[in-house]
Amino acid sequence: MITVITIDGPSGAGKGTIAQMLALELDWNILDSGALYRTLAYFMKENNINLDNFEENQNLLKERFKVSFDPGTPGEPVKVLFENEDITSIVRTEEMAKLTSTLAAEPVIREFIKPCQRDFMQLPGLIADGRDMGTVIFSDAKHKIFLTASLEERAKRRQTQLKRQGLKVNMRTLLHELEERDRKDTEREHSPLVPAEDSVLIDTSNLKPEGVVKEIKTYL
Ligand code: DC
Repeated sequence: MITVITIDGPSGAGKGTIAQMLALELDWNILDSGALYRTLAYFMKENNINLDNFEENQNLLKERFKVSFDPGTPGEPVKVLFENEDITSIVRTEEMAKLTSTLAAEPVIREFIKPCQRDFMQLPGLIADGRDMGTVIFSDAKHKIFLTASLEERAKRRQTQLKRQGLKVNMRTLLHELEERDRKDTEREHSPLVPAEDSVLIDTSNLKPEGVVKEIKTYL
């Protein structure tokens, strides 16, 4: 039996940071499902694949869409490795997030990515970060966490993150984009962002990452 801890929540709630801290501390595998969707969006863009020709490109997708993650170092985003390349900075842009959010609402995309996500369930254990980890993909997980934070706090965190990547950001645009993405992710028909009934809710607005990890450990 492989233990899975799911960490779901909206953008900027702290999922990435907390998943990384737990994966490093436990020395477990990590699945950043948002980055998986982003990589698929990037791959589709690079190969002129869209929703209309998605089916006819299934073989190419199945053959080449193999992503891995490296939890990296605290304070840096989890590394996304694809076709022997570190594509972290390519996929972690707001432009890619916007495109991904639209694609991720499509059932054909979610169905394709489902087995790719389950493949990450490997010994000694898995920390799965996303929107529907506890509700759909690993509904059988033993431990489920749902992180939230105020919109303003989440936008501030996102701003810091993007600045660290050397990207210019406008706070008003960021707030608007985050709100729009929240709306899309929570209102979509397929796998909307909702806490699993058996998840533990943590509001991270006034907590440092160490404080969140402490709460999770207490629960575990
Ligand atoms: O967590 P993130 O910002 O990297 O996610 C990018 C987009 O992918 C986000 O708008 C919603 C979507 N997503 C999803 O629909 N389901 C997941 N399990 C993870 C991400």
